[in-house]
Parts: sequence; structure tokens; C-alpha cells
Amino acid sequence: MGTSVAPGSPRAMWALGDYHRFAKATVWEFGEVLVDACGVQAGQRVLDVAAGTGNTAIRAAQRGASVVASDLTPENFDAGRREASASGVELEWVGADAQALPFGDGEFDVVTSSFGAMFAPDQQAVADELVRVCNPGGTVGMVNFTPRADPFFGLLAAYLPPPPPGALPPTAWGREDHVRELFGDRLSPLELTRHEYVERAATPDDYVALFEETFGPVVAIERSLAGDPGRAASFAREFRELARNANAGPPGGPAEYPYEYLLVAGRKPAR
Ligand SMILES: C[S@@+](CC[C@H](N)C(=O)[O-])C[C@H]1O[C@@H](n2cnc3c(N)ncnc32)[C@H](O)[C@@H]1O
Repeated sequence: MGTSVAPGSPRAMWALGDYHRFAKATVWEFGEVLVDACGVQAGQRVLDVAAGTGNTAIRAAQRGASVVASDLTPENFDAGRREASASGVELEWVGADAQALPFGDGEFDVVTSSFGAMFAPDQQAVADELVRVCNPGGTVGMVNFTPRADPFFGLLAAYLPPPPPGALPPTAWGREDHVRELFGDRLSPLELTRHEYVERAATPDDYVALFEETFGPVVAIERSLAGDPGRAASFAREFRELARNANAGPPGGPAEYPYEYLLVAGRKPAR
């Protein structure tokens, strides 16, 4: 991966804020969920795609696997290396686009992605790459937000640069029919199960503040609107309204945000 990062690019966007702080406050537990679903074992070679700061990669390494954590945004790897070291494991960190992975066919026994590869615009290319680098007899596993998260991602999409023409929303990866179509018969059996989890903050405003301080896409939007106070105020108002309306917590707090995700676990048939 080159060292110059185009301003406004997806990589520049995901490098903003403090992704590791965000992940620890929200999705960190899913590393454990995904390595369990994929049955990761000692001695296996595991690739975690769009690994962020390693929530899944680190858990796989703790099971004794030999792990490569790859992501479009190597700016976040130092935080991941520190977390891995504090967790007593070492992994390899490789800058890579999920749509064109720099690995050979069948290099990995298990290929994972937690709320990560779903954000690459060419979903078919991602599915093809996850299957290609998986060894026959190996496992591909993902956790993906379902379309229930569309009000949130739709708000961000309204203020971010448009995706390439024809790109589907990331949450299409949370639809069973779409995932079956993307993988075709190349993963069999392919188990798809929906689950819920809850994110919490003391108040809706604290929940918004977490995103404004740490979540790259929100930081990118607010920076891009710095010269447009009217639109900046609209985004701030809409985000706060969404956080108030979506709060399912008890009166008096804490604020609670239920999310739904699709757990994907498929076997690439042995030759
Ligand atoms: C919500 S984070 C998830 C990170 C991590 N898997 C986790 O669960 O904490 C989304 C990640 O996808 C990465 N990403 C976005 N587009 C990508 C692409 N085309 N190829 C690889 N990674 C990508 C971002 O850099 C970011 O680290």
C-alpha cells in the first residue's frame, strides 16, 4: 500500500478519530463471537479482513492461530499492535483492500471479517476474494449489520461523498438472500443467523459525543462541513434527534441502542 492517502478517500476517513477507542466501547466483543462461530483452533492460519484494531484477529491469535490482520487503513495498526501486545499475542498487520487481497489462493484456513469488509463498495469482489484466499475445507465468517441500522448509515450517507455508481448500501451484507447470492454455491453449508446486541451510553448526547470524538466517518463529515455552518447544524441536529428517538433504554438512563447483525459462517468445500 502506498503511503500517500487521498484526502476524502475511505482510508483517510477511517483513519480519523480514534477507532480503537470506538471499537472498545462498541463492537469489541464480536471478535470472540466470530472466532467461536468459525471454530478457530491452534495451528490454523487465519486472515482477518478489514480488521480495524484487531478485535477478531487478536482473539484468533489467543486461540493459538497464526494470524494476519489486514485493513485498508494501516493508520490504525499501531493501536492494534499495542492491544495485541497487552493481550500477550503477536500478529502480522498488512495494509490491504478487501476487494483485491494481496494473498494467494487458499492461503488461509479461516477468513473472517467483523463489521469490516461490508464497507467496501464492490460487494461481489469482496465475496470473491474472501472465498479465493480460503483453503478448500476452510471457513469464511463475517458479522454484518442488517438493514435495521439503515437510519444511522443512511444519515451518514446523506453527508458523505457518494459511493461509486451502482454500489449497494453496506447493510445489504446483512440480508440473507443477498449474502447467498454473493457467495453462490462456493460456501456450503452456509449458516446465516440474526442476532441482537445493545450499545450503551449514559445519555443520548454522550452516545453522539462518542461518535463525534472517535468514529472516522462522523469526524470526516463534521470536518467537511466546517465551512458550511447551516449544513453542519443540520447534521448535528439530525444525529441528536436520531440518538434520542432510537434510545430504547429505561427512563433516567442509561441510553440503549439495540442493533441487529447477521452472523455468517460458511465452509468452502474440500476439493
Ligand atoms: C467499523 S470498522 C470494523 C473494524 C474491525 N473489524 C472491528 O470490528 O472493530 C470498519 C473497517 O473497515 C475498513 N475498511 C473499509 N473499507 C475497506 C476496504 N475496502 N478494504 C479493507 N478494509 C476496509 C476500515 O478501515 C475499518 O477499519
